[in-house]
Amino acid sequence: MRHLMTPLDLSVEELDKLMDAAEDIKANPAKYSHACDGRILAALFYEPSTRTRLSFEAAMLHLGGRTMGFADAMSSSAAKGESVADTIRVVSCFADIAAMRHFKEGAPMVAAQFSGIPVINAGDGGHQHPTQTLTDLMTIRSSKGRLSSMKIGMCGDLKFGRTVHSLIRALLRYDNISFVFISPDELKLPDYMTEELDSHPEIKYKEVTRLEDALPELDVLYMTRVQKERFFNEEDYVRLKDYYILDSRKMELAGEDMIVLHPLPRVNEISVEVDKDPRAKYFDQVQNGMYIRMALILMLLGIEV
Ligand code: NCD
Repeated sequence: MRHLMTPLDLSVEELDKLMDAAEDIKANPAKYSHACDGRILAALFYEPSTRTRLSFEAAMLHLGGRTMGFADAMSSSAAKGESVADTIRVVSCFADIAAMRHFKEGAPMVAAQFSGIPVINAGDGGHQHPTQTLTDLMTIRSSKGRLSSMKIGMCGDLKFGRTVHSLIRALLRYDNISFVFISPDELKLPDYMTEELDSHPEIKYKEVTRLEDALPELDVLYMTRVQKERFFNEEDYVRLKDYYILDSRKMELAGEDMIVLHPLPRVNEISVEVDKDPRAKYFDQVQNGMYIRMALILMLLGIEV
């Protein structure tokens, strides 16, 4: 039985296969519409989510399966003090596969150890978010035609942004990748991520504070929201939340082929005027997210279509 905790749980070949499968599902949805008949996905969300939870549920529904679960910790037995280990043992009796989001780093990993069914990490604290990474990779591959030879700018909250951490991990394995990390000092990448980068001497990266300086050289710009819920005090959040705002004027500094990604939800970091720019791909990401989750569910359940 396999789980998905970090993008590194999948080999580069498996990632390719998943993206191919997702493209096939996107092109031929009818072929897959009964692939999961009689199967149940449990969505165990201890932390707020719109996209990820609905995307998992939609993925299972489009495969002919059904879903159950909870959307916040207070409506689950966690409110009574139940451990994640016990919850997953119980859920294993009812469902075939589980997607878990938790505010504590490592909680889905604990669940996986006690689970009788595959567990997918749907975001654990400021740590990892592997299915968003699948979405991001699929969108980069389909827009740019490749995942190697790429200069990727990551901008915003690089400290708490788990989607950033997962995407970096996944990209470390492709050829000729370089990164520009754009953040205020307070929101720089955590040490464990720079150490991971440093253990790959072939990967070039720099850390800068000005978005304008980085824009002209990028193939991909990955914007992120300042992660309000992980701040210890409101004052720091208020000071940092509007540090970067990507608008049409700044987009003029970027190359014609640069694409803009964002895991969403967006707050102020991308003005809505950028939405109509053909380089804005963040709503494509949402759509790809459902297809790649469909491919992942099939893979973890061992279902071939
Ligand atoms: C991201 C997350 O939950 O980490 N959202 C998502 O899953 N699409 C990004 C965020 O919340 O800022």
